Amino acid sequence: MSKLRLKVPRKNVVLIGHMGSGKSTIGRDLSKKLKIRFFDVDRQIEKEAKKKIIKIFAEDGEKVFRELEKKVTINLLDNNNTIIALGGGGFENNNVRKLILNNCVSIWLKCDLNILEKRCILTKKRPLLRNKDIKKELIKFDKIRKSNYSKAKITIDVSEKTKYQIIKEILNNL
Ligand code: S3P
Repeated sequence: MSKLRLKVPRKNVVLIGHMGSGKSTIGRDLSKKLKIRFFDVDRQIEKEAKKKIIKIFAEDGEKVFRELEKKVTINLLDNNNTIIALGGGGFENNNVRKLILNNCVSIWLKCDLNILEKRCILTKKRPLLRNKDIKKELIKFDKIRKSNYSKAKITIDVSEKTKYQIIKEILNNL
């Protein structure tokens, strides 16, 4: 990675995209590379609620989760110079989306649905995909969410790319 051009943005860099697109993994690695802080909205929600996402959905419902998600995200956006990985549905909130589009460097990690399906099959931690036909759900979410995702300042097609290639492409675009 030593030959990569490092330009540290003063604005927050926010990673958006579907479940399984690599927001958390890429965000963490990117923050190490740029030596700036990294926040994963889902992990912050779990800290705040003192329970796992899957349990929040099961015990309190999606509505409560979305309220928490909005609150936690807006708090995180108050920082400067951080990398933030949103949850797959976080960008659907009008207030959150406006704040991000106006004040942050937004990056959509766009990924082929077949690749997302393979990744999402490997974990049972996602309440919206549990006991469901994963491909069908991903197609449904894609139809609903891609018009908002496509508003991001930068789009990186992450399908078939290594972490190194993705980070290099992001750094070249910052
Ligand atoms: C969700 C995505 C999840 C998590 C929650 C809801 C969604 O985050 O926030 O299960 O609505 O797409 P990841 O995108 O990190 O899996």
